[in-house]
Order: sequence, then structure tokens, then C-alpha cells
Amino acid sequence: MDPSKKGRDMAQDANKELLALNQRLLDCIARADWSVYREMCDPSLTCFEPEARGHLVQGLDFHEFYFKLGPVQGVHCTTMASPHVRLMGDVAVVSYLRLNQRVQTDGAPVTRAVEETRIWQRKDGQWKHVHFHRSQPD
Ligand code: GLY
Repeated sequence: MDPSKKGRDMAQDANKELLALNQRLLDCIARADWSVYREMCDPSLTCFEPEARGHLVQGLDFHEFYFKLGPVQGVHCTTMASPHVRLMGDVAVVSYLRLNQRVQTDGAPVTRAVEETRIWQRKDGQWKHVHFHRSQPD
């Protein structure tokens, strides 16, 4: 096989794997599945997210609070729109517009959009989530 094609195929496989992993992470957040989230994240996870009001969050404790509030209620869907994967050896940057489709308490459907970037690092053969940055919802 043409070595450059082999390289492209491997990169495509890694992209697919990373997008599937990232979707699994978003889905476990919606389900409030703390054990999956903890398994997918490195204990040293860092992030900027609106909930932290400008502070850099380090570690997992801050996130556990939200999982304790329980899963998203009602029909819902979390989509990575226009996802982009940048693979740099054992590190990958996954960027996309996240669309959260939810049902409000009055039953009306609502879609919120946020820009999100998540960084993954391959450690001992496994991808671990090590950093993310999420914009304010629109
Ligand atoms: N707030 C947890 C996460 O978005 O990963």
C-alpha cells in the first residue's frame, strides 16, 4: 500500500475514534454518568467554562457538583456541529459548535449553541480528556 495512503487512513481512523469518544463524553454529561466521565478524564483535567466565571478549573471536583444535580430531563440531543480534529502525535484537539437540544419546563423545545474545544492525550494507549474550553451560551 502507498505509505502516504496508509498514513491518511490511520489519521482518518484516529479522527473517527476521537469524535466517537468526544460524543461519548458529551452523552455521559447529559446522563450525569459520573463514573464514565471520571474514567474518560485525566484527574488533572483543566478547563475554562462559563460556570467557573473566568477561573481556570483544575481537577474533577468542580465538575462532580453538576453531575450530582442529575441527568438532563426530557427528550434531548447533544450534537457536535462541523467538528474538526487536529492530531499532533499523542495529543488531539477536537473543536466544534455544540448544539444542545432540550425541552424547557413549559414543554417548548429550545436549542442552545456553544463553541467548545476539547483536548485529548493518549496515555498508556488510551485517550484521556485533559483540557476543554467552552464559550458562553448564545
Ligand atoms: N462541565 C463538564 C464538561 O463539560 O466536561
